[in-house]
Parts: sequence; structure tokens; C-alpha cells
Amino acid sequence: MRYLPLYVATAVGAALLTSGSFCAAQAPTKKAATTPPNRQAALTTHDVEINALLQKMTLEEKVHMIHANSAFAAGGIPRLGIPELMTSDGPHGVRPEQGRNWKAPVGADDASTYMPNNNALAATWNPALGYAFGTVLGSEANARGKDIILGPGINIVRAPLNGRNFEYLSEDPYLVSQLVVGYIRGVQDQGVSACVKHYAANNQETHRDDIDVDMSERALREIYLPGFRAAVQQGGVYSLMGSYNKFRGTYATENAYLMNDILKGEWGFKGLVISDWGSVHDTQKALRNGTDLEMGTDLVLMSQGVDQSAAASGVTGQPDLVNGSSQSLYNRFFLADPALAAIKKDPTLLPLLDDKVRRILRVMYATHMLGGPKRQPGAFNTKEHQATALKVAEEGIVLLKNEGSLLPLKKSIKTVAVIGANAERANSMGGGSGQIKAKYEITALQGIKNELGSGVNVTYSPGYTIARDQKADPQLIAQAVAAAKAADEVIFVGGSFHGYDYGKWSDNAYDAEGTDKPDLKMPFGQDELVQAVLAANPRTVVVLLGGGPIEVAAWAGQAKSIVEAWYPGMEGGNALAHILFGDVNPSGKLPFTFPVKLEDAPAMKLGEYPSTPGNPLKQTYKDDIWVGYRYYDTYQVKPQFAFGHGLSYTTFDYGKLSVKPGPQSATVTLTVRNTGKMAGSEIVQLYVKDLKSSVKRPEKELKAFDKIALKPGETKTVTMQLPATAFQYYDEAKKQWVLEPGQFEVLVGSASDDIRQKATFTL
Ligand code: BGC
Repeated sequence: MRYLPLYVATAVGAALLTSGSFCAAQAPTKKAATTPPNRQAALTTHDVEINALLQKMTLEEKVHMIHANSAFAAGGIPRLGIPELMTSDGPHGVRPEQGRNWKAPVGADDASTYMPNNNALAATWNPALGYAFGTVLGSEANARGKDIILGPGINIVRAPLNGRNFEYLSEDPYLVSQLVVGYIRGVQDQGVSACVKHYAANNQETHRDDIDVDMSERALREIYLPGFRAAVQQGGVYSLMGSYNKFRGTYATENAYLMNDILKGEWGFKGLVISDWGSVHDTQKALRNGTDLEMGTDLVLMSQGVDQSAAASGVTGQPDLVNGSSQSLYNRFFLADPALAAIKKDPTLLPLLDDKVRRILRVMYATHMLGGPKRQPGAFNTKEHQATALKVAEEGIVLLKNEGSLLPLKKSIKTVAVIGANAERANSMGGGSGQIKAKYEITALQGIKNELGSGVNVTYSPGYTIARDQKADPQLIAQAVAAAKAADEVIFVGGSFHGYDYGKWSDNAYDAEGTDKPDLKMPFGQDELVQAVLAANPRTVVVLLGGGPIEVAAWAGQAKSIVEAWYPGMEGGNALAHILFGDVNPSGKLPFTFPVKLEDAPAMKLGEYPSTPGNPLKQTYKDDIWVGYRYYDTYQVKPQFAFGHGLSYTTFDYGKLSVKPGPQSATVTLTVRNTGKMAGSEIVQLYVKDLKSSVKRPEKELKAFDKIALKPGETKTVTMQLPATAFQYYDEAKKQWVLEPGQFEVLVGSASDDIRQKATFTL
């Protein structure tokens, strides 16, 4: 498959137009955008110096390079001037310091900018904001002395219950690809390496450490790999993380097909494959099958209680080649002492070791850890970074429903009741490894108070308690109902929440790494609460926080206005208030489908989630390519809210399509007009349908989009290019992408279920 040279010809261009106060200097230049350089080539420009360095290294020194020396650092050979490689999570900000022993150093200044989560970023459909987002991370990683930021997480949002959906972008591979490229380039233009994760088929947390995933080759190629391929070939990502799970019988991190054949072979990846923390299981397989750097095995051993004393004494940062003793924890790494022994026994393994070290050194040169010029110092917690956090949240919040134009609310109201414990909850330190010690976090309640000032009476009642196994609380509900009755307007802030408070890895896991959600309903009896509040005061706006989709069918019909705010980051409360009170016109669109009920989701209906019956450690993705809207549309299952759905305070009119087909491509042009009274941005979505095909193809697939800003009455022309890839499917027999000539339809609209214009043509 060839990748679109037009990555951003439409998208970034449009994004710059719509991005308002967003700093244009942070975006890729037009020139770079229209002719993307081969970013993988940047990795090999220092191979001569690298070969010279390799010649000087002893076997022990080489082995020392390919495994962790503590929680987040690896390697380092002072004798040769090779520094340690410092990594940090990712993906929504730079993680608090973990030091060498998984404990923060005393007095560390490790608070940082907390960005909205990846769902929110995806909901902006704005690649330029992906770049700006990456710029913040790269700059702050740089300032904190980190060389690799462990993000973005781009696994496909397949199973609605996946506890880690909040860290991922979308159910659609095209949308993922468009956003991941900007993010990576933003990080790496700051001189820091991004690390795209988790490759591959890590789409749930249940049994994530050893579930063996299988799927058709077509599903792999069409749904699960395009984002990673775009990261490598268009984003030029310097490093990639192998996932915990198995794929077709072998751990993904040590999987010859995924790593050697596809990633390093077909896609020509020249960078570094890092294991997930503790995802290596076998010295020979890791040596041979693509893992270049083993991280976190000590953590796994500690958590299993295998060697507490060694763990306690061993993680000191003393290099094993100095320490050397069998007491050292380093003999616990598969790519430490056991690798050394294996290579001594079988010298034919040496070129494999050299290749791994070479890849690590390439990242060191690319990030200016070696060679010149030195990296410019990054910046930390700047106003610009906070402004980017605000901008992403404002563009990422999605207006799901707005009957009778309840929103935007008037600032002239006298009393507003804010109801729901989420209105006061800070989420930055939750979620697992993606936790951020935020410099500050504006909650919804704070944001609403900031917006309204002291002239408006803002009351607050929690309505529910965030605690494990908590059910609806009649007393709290009664208080909330009384508050709702007494107010002009009600803002209910509920939904999900991040469990996993810092330091409590096994408590309260919810919407978090390591555990999937028990169901898709709002926890703590919120369904009961919200129905009571809606009955008490119909002028109630329901705001949802959380990652991934959530079930709202129990009360959605009763609610006039529903807003999805995700985990909106440190400026989230302000962004939310700007939307609710009309300072900002909402423009976010759903990056994944909200089913009416969990059982409707294709992973549940067709798939085997979370495991093959009778075999908890196996799963075949029988839902195949029927992921997200590809399923709902084709199988005619009506979702609660469709992929691409998102309302505005204004209205847009779509003009007729003009299609210019080329031999294997097409250019689609139309005009879009703002027919309402408020300026706003629209995300014009283009889907392709193959009218006749020798394989079953989805009803439609997203192949282009453009985000345009329009003043009231203004009309703009939108031009979208469709290259050959937009019409292809993966042919399993031929093992290649195929464009079958014939009739195609383009469908252009405001959402996957709101198509405004169609045209048919022949290729
Ligand atoms: C997660 C990774 C993370 C790593 C380091 C693992 O448990 O799966 O996403 O980067 O820990 O914190």
C-alpha cells in the first residue's frame, strides 16, 4: 500500500485555518506537509559513525546496551561517551519521576502539562493539533532530560470494555493514521523520540499479558496495522513498543512475523523496538525476532514476588558489567546475562546483537544524544503548553445531543446547580502508566465558576460517591434533586472516572490500565441519579467524562443536551465551560461508535471478547474487519451515537459533489456553507463505497476529511484527494492490496450516519 502524499494537503491546511489562536509556528510548514520527507532516512544518516562505535565496543558492553538498568533507563557506556537512554510515559504528558527504584526522588520537580486524553485528541479530527500536542510532550520530555516519550498509544478501539480505550485514538484506521503522524512529528521535531505503542493486537487489558490473539490477515492489514505503518513511514517514528499479548502463538514483542517480516522488512523500519515493561519471555526469541531493548522485566519479577531481595538491592543503576555479580538483578533480564551466554556459545548471533545496538545508537543520534548539535533545552509548564491543552479540549469536546437548543446556556442566569462527583474529581493521576502529576487541573466545577464569576450562584451536590462497589445513594440523590429544583439550569457532570490512584496499582482499577470495565454503564448508580435529576429539572445538561464509549440509553431520551468531554486535561474545566456557555462553538466528532447497549458491539456480537469460550488465554477476532461503524452500517445495527457524529451551535449546508476520477484516483470538490448565526467549524467527512466487489466490503469507509472554519453566511470550497489506497482492499490470496476496477460511490457528510451528498463514478 502506498501512503498518501497528500497527508495534510487538506487536513493540515484546513486545520491551520480553523485553529484560531493555536500557534501556527508549531504546525508543520505547508512545504513539508505536501511533500513529506522520508523520515526513516533520518535514522540512517549516522551509520558510518555508528559502525565505528560498534567496533570499539566489547561484547559485554553491547549486551549492556540492550536491557534496562533501572525502571525507565537503559544502557550507557561512559568509556565511549554513550549516555544512558532515558524513557518516560506518555502518552498525555510526561510522567512523574519514577527514579531508579520506581520511587520518585525526594523533591523532584516533576509536575507537568496534563494534556487531554487521546480520545479527545482524536475527536478534534485536527492533525495540526496532533502536531501541537506532540510538541508539548516533546518539549517537556526534553526539559526533563527524557530521550524517549512512551506514546502515542494507537491501538484500535475495538472492545468497548477495554480499560485502556482512554489512551487510544479511534476505531478507524484512517483517522488514527492522520492523527498519529502529526503527534510523532511534533514530538520528534523537539529532538525527542516518540515511541508508538502497543504493537500489535493489544486491544484489551483482560489477560493482556498472555492472551493469544488471532485474526484474519485482512483484518490485520486493513484495521489493526495501518496506524503503525503510518507512524513508521509517514511519521518517521524513531521507536516502537512491542505489546504484552501473543499474536498467532508467539508473544508480539518476539514475534518474527510482526517484527522482522512486516515492521523491519516490508515497512523498512530502521529504528528501535522496545519491549513493553516485562513483555520479553525468551532470550533466543527476543534475540532473533526483533526486540532491540528489553525493559521492565524486573518490575514483573517484583510484582510476582520472585526475587524481592534482588529487586530491592539490584535496581541501583549500577551497570551490570561493573557489578557483574549473579546477585545483580540484571541476570533477570532475558537480554542481559542469558543473552551474553547465548552469544558466547553461538557467535552467529552476534550480527543480531550488533543490529540491536545499531538501532539504539541511531535513536541516540537522531535525538542528538550523540553527535552534534546538542538538543535545545525544552520548556516546562509554559503558558503556550497550557494553551495547547485548552485548545485540544475545546476542539475535542463533542456535543452529542441538543434538543430545543438548550445549549449554549446564558451567562445571565441566576442559579446553576452543578451535580455529580465527577465535577470535582481530578483525574490526572489515574489510569495507570499514563498518569500525570499535573501542574494544576481545572475541574468542571472550577471551570464553570471561572466562567460565571461571582454574580451567579453556583451550587454543587455530588449526587454519588466514587468508591468501589458503591451503589446509588438515596440521600445524595435527594439532595441533588432538591438542588436541581432550586436552579435555573442544571449541569450534571458524570460518566466514568479514572481508578488507579497513584501508588495503588491494584485498587480501584476502572477506566485504567490492567483491567477492563465490568460493564458499559455509568458506575455508582448514576443512571438512577441522572433520571431523577432530569425529572426534577428538564433544563439539565448531561456532561460525560471518561474514556471510550458508554451506555446512555436508559436516560438519553429524557435528556435534551448531552456533551462528551472525555478526560479533558488540565484546562478541561475551562474548555467545558467555554463550550457550555457558547464562547466556543463545539466542533468535535466521535472517533468511535457509542452502541445502544454493550451487546450490540461487534466485538461482543461476532467476536469472542474477552476470550474464546473454554479457553481464557485465546481469542480469535471473529468480528474480522467489522469493527466500529464498518459493522453498524453493514449489518444495519442502529447505534446510540454514530462514528463521526458531533453537533454544532450553527448549521452547515453541503453543496453538490463534483468528482474528477483519474485512472486510479479521484478528486472530490464541494462547497459548504454556514447557514446559522454563529461562527463554527465543520468536519467534512468523505466515505468510499465499492459498489461491486469480489469480497464483502464495508458499507462505507472513511478515506478523507477536512475541517473548515466558517463565519455565519460564509461558503468555502473543500477539495479532497483520494489516492489509489482509498479504493483498495487487502487480498489474502494475493497477499497484497488490490484495486478492483468498477463503480465506486463517494459519500460526503457531517457524520457516518448523516450523509449529505453522494456521487458515483468508475475507476
Ligand atoms: C505499559 C506501557 C508503559 C510501560 C512503562 C506498561 O505497563 O503497558 O504502555 O509505557 O508500562 O510504564
